[in-house]
Amino acid sequence: MMSILSIVEYDSDGATVFGIRTDLIERLVDTIKRDFKAKIGLTIVLTFLAAAILAPELAPFDPMAQEFGMLQAPTLAGDHPLGTDSYGRDLLSRIMYGARISLLVGVGAVSVGAIVGVTIGLVAGYYGSWIDDVLMRIIDIMWAFPWLLIAIMLVAIFGQSLWNVIFAVGFAYVDDFARITRGEVLSIREEEYALAAKSVGLGDLQIIAEEVLPNTVAPLIVQFTVLVARAMLAEATLSFLGGVKPTTPTWGALLGQGRNFLTQAWWISVIPGLMIMITVLGINLFGDALRDAFDVKDEGVPNMNDEPLLEVRNLRTSFKTERGTVDAVDGVSFEIYPGEVFGVVGESGSGKSVTALSLLQLLDSNSTVEADAVRFKGENLLAKSDAEMQDVRGGEISMIFQDPSTSLNPVMTIGEQIAEVYRQHASSAESGGFWPEMKRKYVTGTSKKSESWQRAIELLDIVGIPDPEARATEYPHQLSGGMRQRVVIAQALAGDPELIIADEPTTALDVSIEAQILNELVDLKNDYDVSVMLITHDMGVVRETCNRVAVMYAGELMEQATDDDLFAEPHHPYTQGLLGSIPRITDDREWLDVIEGTVPDLIDKPAGCPFRDRCDRAFEMCDQPLVAYDASSDSNSEPSEHTAYCHLHNDHVETNADGHAVDITEGAHAEVESKRVDAKSDEMVRADGGDNQ
Ligand SMILES: Nc1ncnc2c1ncn2[C@@H]1O[C@H](COP(=O)(O)OP(=O)(O)OP(=O)(O)O)[C@@H](O)[C@H]1O
Ligand code: SF4
Ligand SMILES: [Mg+2]
Repeated sequence: MMSILSIVEYDSDGATVFGIRTDLIERLVDTIKRDFKAKIGLTIVLTFLAAAILAPELAPFDPMAQEFGMLQAPTLAGDHPLGTDSYGRDLLSRIMYGARISLLVGVGAVSVGAIVGVTIGLVAGYYGSWIDDVLMRIIDIMWAFPWLLIAIMLVAIFGQSLWNVIFAVGFAYVDDFARITRGEVLSIREEEYALAAKSVGLGDLQIIAEEVLPNTVAPLIVQFTVLVARAMLAEATLSFLGGVKPTTPTWGALLGQGRNFLTQAWWISVIPGLMIMITVLGINLFGDALRDAFDVKDEGVPNMNDEPLLEVRNLRTSFKTERGTVDAVDGVSFEIYPGEVFGVVGESGSGKSVTALSLLQLLDSNSTVEADAVRFKGENLLAKSDAEMQDVRGGEISMIFQDPSTSLNPVMTIGEQIAEVYRQHASSAESGGFWPEMKRKYVTGTSKKSESWQRAIELLDIVGIPDPEARATEYPHQLSGGMRQRVVIAQALAGDPELIIADEPTTALDVSIEAQILNELVDLKNDYDVSVMLITHDMGVVRETCNRVAVMYAGELMEQATDDDLFAEPHHPYTQGLLGSIPRITDDREWLDVIEGTVPDLIDKPAGCPFRDRCDRAFEMCDQPLVAYDASSDSNSEPSEHTAYCHLHNDHVETNADGHAVDITEGAHAEVESKRVDAKSDEMVRADGGDNQ
């Protein structure tokens, strides 16, 4: 897995190559270009840094040079634009020299806190058990001490020196870093890539350094910048109370010296105070930009109050077979928002692929697809003719299938296959009609100078195929499985779609190539602003990749939530079962949990919760059809960010500590009915335009 600050990457064949992550620098530059606040933050930080570094060259006076009786207010006319202090020393020069120490204390102290705290947090979080207990109790004790008193005590014991102040202030931040790091490590160590690293024989130290630490960087950067600002204020307080030698100009010391002259000479303390305030603001603004640049996954977290890109209401798909009607998808509703990876997860046969194929009307003729609505950018897809759907497929919504070896035409070069999709859908001057395509296919081939061929090469490059010019002329069988799947992704991007539906895009690949392909998808989502519907049966993949998740079972939805909520607090017994069945790095279980029983037959499926034969909490209401219950911790969130399709969440069902129903009060059935009525609509449309039963 390519981690956030890794300098190790893999090429498309999985070989290790080394290089600096210039993409992160590019992301940072992009963030700064885009974000006005980041620009202000960077300008402030650079100005103060330059002033501090160049103080000996730029300061107009020696900061210690005194001119008795020369107390002077700020003036643009004289030699002292920021005035002088009570000893006649130039305030501008003292502030420039003071910046050197204040910034050094800020960065130095927080670095001390970070080095010690992050180490403690990593060890505590990664090893857990008694090591975690002991280390975190020490941190608790540290937290309970008043840090300012400790800092004063340390400076008193070891003397008034700059380094003592740095260590004294830094000591106060150890617990902040330790707690944040531990919290991050606790969740990261359960991730599949950490597990994969262990499975390929990496030692603990290597896993911590290569897999865990880089992924804690984003929150630590934010903490670092917040604390640098706090450390500068702490230095000011300490100096005010006598931390650094009084003769050394620091912003804190300047502030302290000015306190006796507040009424006669306000500028002596107000101007250093202002400098501290502006620097703190600048560092915080720049810290936000750094966080945005480094937090790869959080980019594109959807705003659920935006218009959804895709809105699916009450989708039902059935197949007529000799044995009877298969209800493959049974009343599924969800939305996909711009710029998100929406995961659909569930056991084999739960209806994930049929859901995706129904949206694009790609199913066999024995199928019936109906829904209250399948709206893409506000337009009802089910009302579109087949010709109109051809423009949607590949142009607006692309699909990536599980097996790259069967998704590509074996007798066409990969360049031709990508160029053709580009001509078909993207705004290209080249004609993409039937006869021109036939001519290209059987007589001339695509011109290597054409826009579509050039775009094909560009796309191969974007998805990480080395030497794309040469590769574009090769046939699918000449490429490895991982490369073929990259080609399929390039082909999916060629029509410039807004949504990519990826149906188990990595199942046919080995684990290291899987991580690269998933990373590629997330990067593309971030860089090209496409949304992704990612179908998988793998909870680890969901955790690493998705912003929101829908859990499916037997053609129905069981739960929908953001990935963080789903993993932190799964509400549905089926989701809880799924999560119990994945291995964790800290597992001391001899056997993984299994959900006993099998998926029900979808032919003439009985009404009620399809999971009830396997659910140890089933109760008398479970033969009622499932409805969407709001399970958000924030009950004001509109629309609901966490939905559970389980009657245990009915407002009129009381549960005990084990989550079993103990009492059903009046109104429970009425609540089910009212939610069913809410979910119904007169607008039911059939994909083939036929009558609804
Ligand atoms: N053409 C068809 N005719 C009849 N039944 C079908 C047809 N296509 C799919 N089904 C049934 O629909 C149900 C859902 O299948 P689907 O392929 O959507 O499952 P899935 O969740 O994608 O599973 P997997 O993880 O194995 O890909 C299954 O029971 C399947 O047998
Ligand atoms: S509705 Fe009933 S059977 Fe279904 S998951 Fe909830 S408790 Fe279990
Ligand atoms: Mg499938």
